Amino acid sequence: MEVPKSSVHILLLLVVGIACISSFTSTTSNTTQGQGLPTPQSSTASTPTNGLHGSCQGVNLPDATRSISTGVDVFVRDLTCKWKGNASLPEEFLIEMEQNIRRLVDSSLKAYLNQQGSSESSANVLEIFGTLDGLNLGNYSDPAFIRLWFSLKMAPLLPYAGESFLVQLGNQNFSCSSYQELMKSVTKELQTIQGIDRKLIYSNFIKVCLSRKNSPEPGCAEIRTGSEEWLQRNIGVFFLFATLQELKEMNKNFSAIEVVDKLSPQQKAELILDPDSGALEDANFVREVLANLKLSGRDEQLSQFFQTFVQISQQVNH
Ligand SMILES: *[C@@H]1O[C@H](CO)[C@@H](O)[C@H](O)[C@H]1NC(C)=O
Ligand SMILES: *[C@@H]1O[C@H](CO)[C@@H](O)[C@H](O)[C@H]1NC(C)=O
Ligand SMILES: *[C@@H]1O[C@H](CO)[C@@H](O)[C@H](O)[C@H]1NC(C)=O
Ligand SMILES: *[C@@H]1O[C@H](CO)[C@@H](O)[C@H](O)[C@H]1NC(C)=O
Ligand SMILES: *[C@@H]1O[C@H](CO)[C@@H](O)[C@H](O)[C@H]1NC(C)=O
Repeated sequence: MEVPKSSVHILLLLVVGIACISSFTSTTSNTTQGQGLPTPQSSTASTPTNGLHGSCQGVNLPDATRSISTGVDVFVRDLTCKWKGNASLPEEFLIEMEQNIRRLVDSSLKAYLNQQGSSESSANVLEIFGTLDGLNLGNYSDPAFIRLWFSLKMAPLLPYAGESFLVQLGNQNFSCSSYQELMKSVTKELQTIQGIDRKLIYSNFIKVCLSRKNSPEPGCAEIRTGSEEWLQRNIGVFFLFATLQELKEMNKNFSAIEVVDKLSPQQKAELILDPDSGALEDANFVREVLANLKLSGRDEQLSQFFQTFVQISQQVNH
């Protein structure tokens, strides 16, 4: 693998930065700090107590991991400025730097998990990596910052994000464009990371975020060019987990009829039985939806449709 010289310098800087941060935060380290290399004499003298042997016993992986994470936070903030500003750095360089730091985060996560074993609860991993801490350093309304934050601080940890973390994330004060940037990044990440519970993300992050009433910029509830575009920008691949009722709560102007050919069998049943949609009185519409289901040629779809139909009818009649 070829690593260009410039990024090696940056990574060295990062490592030095991390070493500095460690020396501020860690009181357990007894190594020489900030005084250059030790002289041969002092080095020999200190080896028995302060050499490899000593530091091996004192390894504190959570502290080291936190330090890396804090270093990455600083990078996220500074890189964002460079992306946005007229910095003389070429774009490929910035992309490469992002990829290199991502690799660093990936490997420190791997090292951490390897050391801690399965005893570590997943909530704890996000805590140790200070995933949400770095958010305070930047601008929640700036999609460029949010994209980079996600790429370097959140994406590697996505498989460990549980319910309470996602709810916390959903309650951050993202602007609408930051939220949409986040959705784009999450969707991209899902294409490469396996084993992520999409429904968990929908129920605890997306729904929470889009249903917030006290958000500083409730702009995501605005429909500009139609329900389909709104859906695509704000919910995307998570659409099938939503009930129409939930979508209406997120956006009262959402029209399921506009996106009828995208609806799941359950959502179609819900639409037909929704008194507000007037669909049940519209024989043509009902016929169309049923024809659409039959055309799909999958019995399983029809049975899902009727199961939901019966469930909702029972709820309505009680
Ligand atoms: C650091 O060094 C001092 C004196 O050299 C020693 O008393 C102390 O125990 C050391 N601390 C650690 C964490 O090794
Ligand atoms: C752009 O470059 C000029 C001149 O080098 C500098 O004064 C200015 O602060 C830069 N702007 C940003 C956003 O970095
Ligand atoms: C945050 O970012 C938004 C969007 O880029 C920008 O309009 C706003 O001025 C920024 N706020 C601060 C405090 O920099
Ligand atoms: C979001 O903003 C509101 C008001 O602007 C504030 O009360 C709240 O603490 C903020 N939430 C977070 C998570 O920063
Ligand atoms: C919903 O539609 C009405 C009428 O077109 C409009 O006045 C209102 O602002 C819309 N609300 C949202 C949240 O988009």
